[in-house]
Amino acid sequence: MRAERLSPLLALGLLVAGIRSVHCLPENVVVKDRHRRVDGHTLASSNTDFAFSLYKQLALKNPNKNVMFSPLSVSMALAFLSLGARGPTLTEILEGLKFNLTEIQETQIHQGFQHLLQALNRPSNQLQLSVGNAMFVQEELKLLDKFIEDARVLYSSEAFPTNFGDPEAAKSLINDYVKKKTQGKIEELFKDLSPRTVLVLVNYIYFKAQWKTRFDPKHTEQAEFHVSDNKTVEVPMMTLDLETPYFRDEELGCTLVELTYTSNDSALFILPDKGKMQDLEAKLTPEMLTRWRNSLQPRRIHELYLPKFSIKSNYELNDTLSQMGIKKIFTDADLSGITGTADLVVSQVVHGAALDVDEEGTEGAAVTAVVMATSSLLHTLTVSFNRPFLLSIFCKETQSIIFLGKVTNPKEA
Ligand SMILES: *[C@@H]1O[C@H](CO)[C@@H](O)[C@H](O)[C@H]1NC(C)=O
Ligand SMILES: *[C@@H]1O[C@H](CO)[C@@H](O)[C@H](O)[C@H]1NC(C)=O
Ligand SMILES: *[C@@H]1O[C@H](CO)[C@@H](O)[C@H](O)[C@H]1NC(C)=O
Ligand SMILES: *[C@@H]1O[C@H](CO)[C@@H](O)[C@H](O)[C@H]1NC(C)=O
Repeated sequence: MRAERLSPLLALGLLVAGIRSVHCLPENVVVKDRHRRVDGHTLASSNTDFAFSLYKQLALKNPNKNVMFSPLSVSMALAFLSLGARGPTLTEILEGLKFNLTEIQETQIHQGFQHLLQALNRPSNQLQLSVGNAMFVQEELKLLDKFIEDARVLYSSEAFPTNFGDPEAAKSLINDYVKKKTQGKIEELFKDLSPRTVLVLVNYIYFKAQWKTRFDPKHTEQAEFHVSDNKTVEVPMMTLDLETPYFRDEELGCTLVELTYTSNDSALFILPDKGKMQDLEAKLTPEMLTRWRNSLQPRRIHELYLPKFSIKSNYELNDTLSQMGIKKIFTDADLSGITGTADLVVSQVVHGAALDVDEEGTEGAAVTAVVMATSSLLHTLTVSFNRPFLLSIFCKETQSIIFLGKVTNPKEA
């Protein structure tokens, strides 16, 4: 079977799922503000820009590994977090999300996400898609009413009181919520959760769609997949004869095939020429995506081979986001819009994704969680008794000193 040129496909797998969502905002969504109008396109183009930047970072960090994430989920979780950010912390998050703040205002960004959420969640009988946000709040942590209200109105976020002092119970509460919202696709987002946690913001996405032209499982056969020049694996390879949007990009050395779902959403598969994956990854831009989409033409493909695959991933995004300019949230954060005081700091940004592509269609889910602790607790207190010290052992009930001493050399007999 001619599967030779399919090798680098998996690496780009999820870009597809992300891009699809970003393009889902109807053209006619217009967010009005006092002076400016921002359409869904502005939001989508920033989100796409962010998607490619994050892709490049993750690909760089995980060379020759699958990369799978939902850029939309990460963007939305960080935009949600930015509701509570102030000053330079806020600017950093929004610029890190690729918004040009001379062109778009903060309120317009939040309204853009609000409309995006509504558009993505619009019921359809051809597509299962649900996107949502939630926050898990330490019982004693007092959130500002404004933050709770904005979270509810703009990000449709529910709030769950949580006892992080019992990390096992808190972990189960969040993991079970995520599992339920992702239809079991993401089972264990957190392996462990620090007892110092006081607030967790969660964004989830679940997506399931059927191919307009399905693959026949009877034609799926084991075939070689060329991971690299000298490494080959056997995979179940699906095959199909169909007419579908196609483009051969001679300039960049890649072939594009778009597969459509019954909902008319689509997945774009990008196959770089042999050995060209890295060149192409370096050149990925939102403009290129637009050019590709405009160049696709229906074409009969007599033999399309696509591996059936199921990929799961889990990322700690804190270093990656720092490299993309979103740093303050992890160090000297001003998240005073959440509690009224500037003592919250982000300790982790965790992202999990799962994507299955088979004969029927695609099922995918992703979750982004922003974990916060109080900064006063984050600074580890270290006291080292590594030089002579005194001690006193005191009996409380009798108020008497049981032992009193000085240790100058613990090894001394
Ligand atoms: C932001 O937009 C302004 C005005 O359109 C433009 O001059 C500037 O170059 C843009 N900045 C970035 C970083 O793209
Ligand atoms: C694979 O081939 C390349 C050159 O084509 C070589 O540099 C590399 O060491 C080989 N790797 C293995 C695992 O044999
Ligand atoms: C998809 O597009 C086709 C052709 O434009 C149209 O006939 C069909 O109703 C659309 N389906 C959905 C679910 O929107
Ligand atoms: C990010 O998380 C990793 C793993 O938990 C940790 O080792 C690293 O120090 C963190 N980096 C930042 C910038 O917080």
